[in-house]
Amino acid sequence: MNKRKIRFGIIGCGLMGREFAVASARWPALLDLDVKPEIVGICDLNESLFDWYLDNFDSIKIATTDYHELLASKDIEFIYCAVPHNLHEKFYIDIIKAGKHLLGEKPFGIDLNANKKILEAIEENPDVFVRCSSEFPFYPGAHKIQKFIEQNPWGKIIHVNASFLHSSDINYDKPINWKRMIEMNGEYGCMGDLGMHALHIPIRAGWIPKTVYASLSNIVTERPDGKGNIVPCETWDNAILQCVVEHPQDKYDFPMTIKTYRIAPGETDTWSIEILGTKFSARFSTKYPKTLQTMKYENGGKQEWCSEDLGYDSVYKTITGGIFEFGFTDAILQMWAALLDEFSNPGKEMPYGCIRPDETRIQHKILTAALESHKNKKIVELKTIDG
Ligand SMILES: NC(=O)c1ccc[n+]([C@@H]2O[C@H](COP(=O)([O-])OP(=O)(O)OC[C@H]3O[C@@H](n4cnc5c(N)ncnc54)[C@H](O)[C@@H]3O)[C@@H](O)[C@H]2O)c1
Repeated sequence: MNKRKIRFGIIGCGLMGREFAVASARWPALLDLDVKPEIVGICDLNESLFDWYLDNFDSIKIATTDYHELLASKDIEFIYCAVPHNLHEKFYIDIIKAGKHLLGEKPFGIDLNANKKILEAIEENPDVFVRCSSEFPFYPGAHKIQKFIEQNPWGKIIHVNASFLHSSDINYDKPINWKRMIEMNGEYGCMGDLGMHALHIPIRAGWIPKTVYASLSNIVTERPDGKGNIVPCETWDNAILQCVVEHPQDKYDFPMTIKTYRIAPGETDTWSIEILGTKFSARFSTKYPKTLQTMKYENGGKQEWCSEDLGYDSVYKTITGGIFEFGFTDAILQMWAALLDEFSNPGKEMPYGCIRPDETRIQHKILTAALESHKNKKIVELKTIDG
């Protein structure tokens, strides 16, 4: 198969920029795709990051501190932009207006207003393909849960729990960085960092909260600045959103809890989803990355959870043996496969697509409702959130 090359520029060469670069280098692992990415340009203010890219990717022709150079390049058709949240609005809008396709990072604008402006730019440039990154639904166990959601086997949903838990912020000695500063990370704090991940499957399922009640905590209120000083750390560390959702088809209400914790003792990047139903329940957590748990129940019958090791049953087929294990970098590769599959096959029914811009708007409304709920200590109806 002669694969079409899609030439990429990366803006923001930090943690996530490198993950994408490595996913592009692992592309031969994927079977059956008619496209492949090639990294042609990189941009970051921190030039010391360039050597790693230039040493590993011969295809790079432009390395710059000014992202406009990538936008002006005819060699680049797609941009992956992974920069701090305060830059999303300007950078994403400039990319879209330059006619480049975009995979942006969450939360896709520092707040609801920034998100609104990005979405307006997308509307004004309908030929530009735009998606937001979120890789966890591409774990085999998470994908099986999406398939269950389509079949609606729950009986009545009793409760949905979706969470994303980190723990390294429990270390009071950890120096502050932009993700712990309101001006760069945003008022949402941990929710802006982790919320889109926890909400991707619920939003795609149509499980949009009617109401939100939020409890937000700032546990570590100051941190070292890495230069010998202690400075305020004002972002929310942990958030619990208690939501009421109307089942989109069956029209009954059920509770949904969204937890995003930066301080969950012992957890490292634990993403999970659990749906408890009267007839069928299912759960998956990246803590047990190959295992899917399900329980079927009939009145009077036994209540037995069943564990199944799924192996490497990926959404997009790869050279990797089915008995092997799946991990974070595999999920990133699968997400990129989904992005380019959807981009190069418009209208194709996707196994599971990356987050759409309209879904980022729903995320922003939920997180804005959470801020209002916590501030005023009240339940907030999502329909009262402007935007
Ligand atoms: N999908 C995921 O799992 C995931 C994980 C972590 C972060 N993220 C998201 O990715 C984005 C970036 O996060 P990160 O962890 O990679 O951060 P990072 O700090 O590691 O990288 C951001 C990079 O942006 C660069 N930058 C800052 N200002 C710039 C400018 N004006 N021009 C060019 N480059 C500039 C910085 O120098 C830095 O190298 C955020 O939106 C974050 O929420 C996503």
